[in-house]
This record gives sequence, structure tokens and C-alpha cells, in this order.
Amino acid sequence: MTTTDDLAPADGTAARSKTRPSPRHYVPDLPIYSSATLGEVPIVFRASSNESPFEPSDAVKAAVAEATAGSNRYPALHGASLVDALAEALAVRPEAIAVGDGSLSVLNHLLLAFAGTGKKVVHAWRSYEAYPISIGAVGALSVGVPNLQNHQHDLDALAAAVDDETDLVILCNPNNPTGTVFSERKLVEFLDQVPGRVVVVLDEAYREFVDEALPGSFDSLPLLDRYPNLVLLRTFSKVFSLAGFRVGYMVAHPDVIAATRSVMSPFPVSAPAIAAAVTSLSEDDYRREIVRRVKVSREEVMAAIRARGILVPTTHANFVWMPVGDRAEAVADACAAAGIAVRCFPGEGVRVSVGQPGLGSALSRALTTEENPR
Ligand SMILES: Cc1ncc(COP(=O)(O)O)c(C=O)c1O
Repeated sequence: MTTTDDLAPADGTAARSKTRPSPRHYVPDLPIYSSATLGEVPIVFRASSNESPFEPSDAVKAAVAEATAGSNRYPALHGASLVDALAEALAVRPEAIAVGDGSLSVLNHLLLAFAGTGKKVVHAWRSYEAYPISIGAVGALSVGVPNLQNHQHDLDALAAAVDDETDLVILCNPNNPTGTVFSERKLVEFLDQVPGRVVVVLDEAYREFVDEALPGSFDSLPLLDRYPNLVLLRTFSKVFSLAGFRVGYMVAHPDVIAATRSVMSPFPVSAPAIAAAVTSLSEDDYRREIVRRVKVSREEVMAAIRARGILVPTTHANFVWMPVGDRAEAVADACAAAGIAVRCFPGEGVRVSVGQPGLGSALSRALTTEENPR
């Protein structure tokens, strides 16, 4: 086998070639973002990444094709045309919005701008698995606060975990992967306890899937006037069905936006992605239909799982959490064997994304197989 050492020149510089670049000392210990559990059979249900199973509309596809034709040019600086469209849709100033290549990328840059090396970032746990990676990647300390027994954020404990060393808090509503929500009243109580110098991120990736009649469904935008340390994080990857384009944004005080933009690329979103996002913003009927189908599917999936005796928290998102503990890997393997790709968190549970017709009955069969292996 040829190694890189064999390729070193024979003129005495070989010793130098043995010295390897080393990443920052904390990088090798960062958690790894997990992937879908796959089996030997082809995937029928892609239920591992909380994507929309529905294709973008024809209007979006046409807008993308047109934008692609002009791809010899850079897109708008700071995604200006998308920022303007969002500002109009949300009735906020353009200075209050920053867009990026996915909401995770926007969060990464917010952390880069506000989380000090060795300082703390507090978040619920279990929550979105990328948080500890993103926090660790900027050299900050991830402080995970266990969820309540009912899988909801423990907002009192989260507030109590904020200390002088804390730069940011990340809340996720609905929470990934548990699907649970908290009310506006609980959020306000929380914000009132947190010092104004601490950035509070409210990750609303799944906000559109919450039933409007529930306290977990509220308009968070007006809170920005009262709490200049609040940051709303949103995405086009879920209900907007544009995960492959990578577009997300945040809404916050203009000073927070300016600081975050200063550590971002000047062209954070591609022209086709901007065209897709801008077009999709006006497709209210299309989104309503997706939400309707997701709600039908999640009821079927929850019922199928509960019928097998697994206690699932009621979900308010486009995924269902099975807190099966030690059975997680066996359940994920049984799903994979049935052509359902799910996300497994060993020792804790399995998350299954909903939306595809027929998922409930397929899952029911898979769980029966897991209980009664041949
Ligand atoms: C809670 C949460 N936030 C953010 C993201 C990232 O979304 P995006 O595709 O916009 O980067 C996800 C993706 O699964 C998520 O679950």
C-alpha cells in the first residue's frame, strides 16, 4: 500500500513531511452528525431527516430554471432580494433579517459572532443533534439541560442554568426530536429571567406544523420589540419543501444581524436558491396542503406506534419520537428491514419523519417484526 510518506521526496525533506497539520484541539472530540439507519432492502420511506416528501411546485421549478440561466453572475449581496421579500412578508425592516445557506449555517455564524471561546451555550437535551456540534465548533461549551419527563423543554431549569459564563441559549419549538412545544407565556417567563446580554435563539424550524388552536402556536415576531436579545431562526427546508436548496434565515435586532453578517460570506445564498425561496413565499395554498397532509400522516403514525404499546409524546411537527431506550437500535433495524429509513439515537429512541402516504401501516408491520423476530 502506498502511504503519503512513500510519496515524500528523497532529498531530505521527508522528515518535514511527517509533520501533520492539527486541527484546533477541541475539533477531534466534536460529536458526529448521525445518518439514517439503512437496511439491505431499498428505501421506500425516507423518514430520517424531517424533509418534506412533497416536491417543490412547478412555479418554483420554473423560477429556479430562469435563475440558473444567469448563474455566471454572483447572487445578490447578503441575499438582498430574499431579505426584501421576507421583510415584506413578515412586516419587519430588512435590517432585521439575515439569510444563509440553511438555518443551521445562520446559527453557526451567530455562534461565531456571539459565543466566546470557553463560554457556555445552554440548550435543552435531547434537542436538535447539531447544536452541540455547532457550539463545540466555535470553541464554546455545550450545556445540555435534560427535558422534563414528558419530553418538553424544562424552561425553569434552562433559566437556572444561565450564569455569568453563558453567552447564548438555544430553545427549539417544536423540539426536534420530541415534537413537543411550549407556550408563549412560558417563553415570556423565561425571557424575563435571562439577562439582556445573553442571546436567546428560538429555533422555529417546524413552527408551521403546530395546530393554530394550541398555545404552542404563537406569533413570536412581536416579542422582538420587547426582547432585543431574542433571535428567531427559521428555515425553508421543512414546510417550504426546499431542503435541497439550503435556505434559512433569522430575524433579530439589527445590531445582532449586523454582527452576524460580518462573519458570513457576502453571498450566502445561491441565485437559484433565492429564486426558489422568494417564489415559495407567496404559495400559501401549497403550504397549507402540505401541513394538512403532514397532520393526517402524523395521526396515522402516532396511532400505529401507540397500538404497539409504545408511549409517544404527541407531536406538533413533521416527525414522531419513539422513546424506546435500549430498544432503539432494534427498532431502527426493523424499520430499515421494512424499507423505512429512520434516525436512531442509541439508548434513547428513534425519530421517524412523517408525510409519505402508507407510512403508518408500514411502521406497524415493522414494529410487529421487532417484537416477534423470526
Ligand atoms: C430544529 C432544527 N433546526 C435547524 C435545522 C436545520 O435546518 P436547515 O436545513 O435550514 O439548515 C433542522 C434540520 O433538521 C432542525 O431540525
